[in-house]
Order: sequence, then C-alpha cells, then structure tokens
Amino acid sequence: MQKLLVTGGAGFIGSNFVHHVVNTTELHITVLDKLTYAGNLASLNHLPAERFNFVHGDIGDAGLVDRLTASVDAVVHYAAESHNDNSLHDPRPFLDTNIIGTFTLIEAARKHGTRFHHISTDEVYGDLELDTPERFTETTPYNPSSPYSSTKAGSDLLVRAWVRSFGLQATISNCSNNYGPYQHVEKFIPRQITNVIDGIRPKLYGAGENVRDWIHANDHSSAVLRILDKGVIGETYLIGADGEKNNKDVVEQILTHMGRPADAYDHVTDRPGHDLRYAIDSGKLRRELGWTPKFSNFDAGIEDTIAWYRDNEEWWRPQKAETEAKYQVQGQ
Ligand code: NAD
Ligand code: TYD
Repeated sequence: MQKLLVTGGAGFIGSNFVHHVVNTTELHITVLDKLTYAGNLASLNHLPAERFNFVHGDIGDAGLVDRLTASVDAVVHYAAESHNDNSLHDPRPFLDTNIIGTFTLIEAARKHGTRFHHISTDEVYGDLELDTPERFTETTPYNPSSPYSSTKAGSDLLVRAWVRSFGLQATISNCSNNYGPYQHVEKFIPRQITNVIDGIRPKLYGAGENVRDWIHANDHSSAVLRILDKGVIGETYLIGADGEKNNKDVVEQILTHMGRPADAYDHVTDRPGHDLRYAIDSGKLRRELGWTPKFSNFDAGIEDTIAWYRDNEEWWRPQKAETEAKYQVQGQ
C-alpha cells in the first residue's frame, strides 16, 4: 500500500490521522474535504509537499470521487456532519453527507476494487444505563438516538451490505468520544476551555451526569492505521481507551487546571434525547490486532489540550463568536 485517500482530512480527527500517518509511515495522502464550517486548512499546515496534497470537493460528487478513488490503494473515510446538536436543528446535511456521501464513496471503491475503511462512532449503539458494568461490543444491536447517530448507523449498514453483496474490501471502526488539538469549539471540551479563556462560565447540559468514554485523537489514529494494516475484511472493530467520565467531572477538571473554582459553571437546557452513557469494550481490537492506547492519563491529556488552545488562539478564534451565538439562541 502506498497511497491513501483521506476524506474529511481537514476536520478534527481526520487531520490528526493525516499528521499521524505522515509522522509514522511512508504513505502518500490525498485529502478530499469540502471545508464546511468544521473543516480548517490550517489544521494541515507544515506537511511535506511530496507526501500530501489537498483536493477541495464534496464526497457526494460522484465524478470527482471516482477519479480520486481510482488513483489510490485505500480510502479512509472520515468526512461527516459530526455534531449532534446541529443535527437536532437541521438534519438535512447529515443525510446528504453521511448517507449519500458514503454511498458515493463505496460505489467508487467497489468499481475500482479499492480497500475501504469506514470511520464511525459508538453512538450507533444508543446509550447505556449509568453505574452498570455493561459496555458496547461489536455485537451490540444498533439503536441510534439522534439524526447524527442514525445517519452514521445508516452509513455503517451500507458498508456492511456492500461487503456482503458486492465484495467491497472494507473494514469498519466505531470509536468513542475523542479529545485533543484541532477540535472545533462547538464540541464539549474545547467549548469549555475556550469559554474559560474568554471569561465565560462553562455550560453543562442538564445535571451533567451523562458519561462519555474519552480517547485521545492520537490513539484513535493509531488504531485506524492498525486496522488498515492488519484488519480482516468485513470486520467491525470498536476503538476505546477505558476513559469513562461524567460531564460534571470533566468541567470541574478543566476549571481546576485553569485556576478557577471547580464550581464556576452553569447548568443549561438539556439536549433533547440526550444519550446517558457510552462505554466501549475494545477487547477484540486489542486481542486480535495487538493494539493498545498510549494516552492512558486523561488528566495529563486535558492539561496538554488546554495548553494547545491557549497557544493556538488564532486557530479557534474565528469560529468562537458564531458558535456561542448559535448556542445562545438554543438556550445552551
Ligand atoms: P469534524 O466535524 O471535525 O470534521 C468533519 C470534516 O469533514 C470537516 O473537515 C468537513 O469539512 C468535512 N466534510 C463534511 N462534509 C463533507 C462533504 N460532503 N464532503 C467532503 N468533506 C466533508 O468531525 P470529526 O469529529 O473529526 O469526526 C470525523 C469522523 O469521525 C466522523 O465520521 C465522525 O462520525 C467520526 N467520529 C467522531 C468522534 C468524535 O468524538 N468527534 C468519535 C467517533 C467517531
Ligand atoms: P459532544 O462533544 O457534543 O459529543 P457527543 O454528544 O457526540 O457525545 O458532547 C459531549 C457531552 O457533553 C454530551 O453529553 C453533551 C455534553 N455537553 C455539555 O454538557 N455542554 C456543552 O456545551 C456541550 C457542547 C456538550
């Protein structure tokens, strides 16, 4: 394998993957990205020109996708509309990109016999009760709650069907919540860090008891690379790093690290249909492909992430006012 097409490579996790691949392999990468509000070319600065090129375009553009897919050995598909809150207010782009965009890519991949890796989320499984030992596995039934997670579930099922009916050479991974540098300020952790920098009190939806299973974006990238290298065609792998925490604890940790009182936050209107808890059992990936996460210390990861947002204000500042104005209209 020599050449990869990475869709959504100007987004949070996609750009992290591009840097990871450039730093740890000899592969050449072409990024295809529409540069929606969530895409940022500055996340791809300082990459060597001989290892990387950027194509501005839509994964729903069949002609473009066909041409690009024909010229690579594998496609790694990150592009998506990715934010639950947006999906509750305007679902349409989620159907266009997550469903039709994925359909367009797998049609091209099957035509050219191209290896395909589909990036998905643990949110396709719905949610779990608090304080139970239960975790998601590869055999947990799909039960998505939101327009975002239902369109991701739909895209997973398309990939599975294309493997079975057309012999698509695909693998799928479902990962838990990522954190780290280059994440859009609409998402929970960067929103609260940049709020504190701006002297705004962090905003906790509802009581803040909802649990997310946090993984550093670099660990997600190393897992995807491992699946691309050693994964079995047709298989699904869950990616997680045993990072369960409730939202209240995360906000308190951010405030404490940033030198503010741990209770200096506000409770705001809860998200409709808010999933209670996600938790991943990544035993299959660890056992069968020998992967282990490197960022096991969430506290240290949060400190690094705070430092990154402090040091890279020019990266996030242009998005901040518009994002907060949108939340304000929603009472959040
Ligand atoms: P993001 O919103 O930061 O980035 C998405 C990228 O896709 C952006 O660069 C955007 O411009 C691009 N894009 C959107 N629509 C496009 C289109 N039609 N054509 C081409 N490019 C388009 O998202 P993210 O958080 O980096 O998530 C990336 C992937 O990982 C998604 O598939 C998401 O479902 C999945 N995922 C995310 C998380 C998480 O915690 N953020 C966890 C598990 C899985
Ligand atoms: P988010 O980053 O949107 O990821 P997801 O909903 O896909 O898990 O939110 C993570 C958690 O944080 C989720 O339980 C919703 C909550 N949340 C807040 O409490 N306040 C906020 O300002 C945001 C954006 C999210």
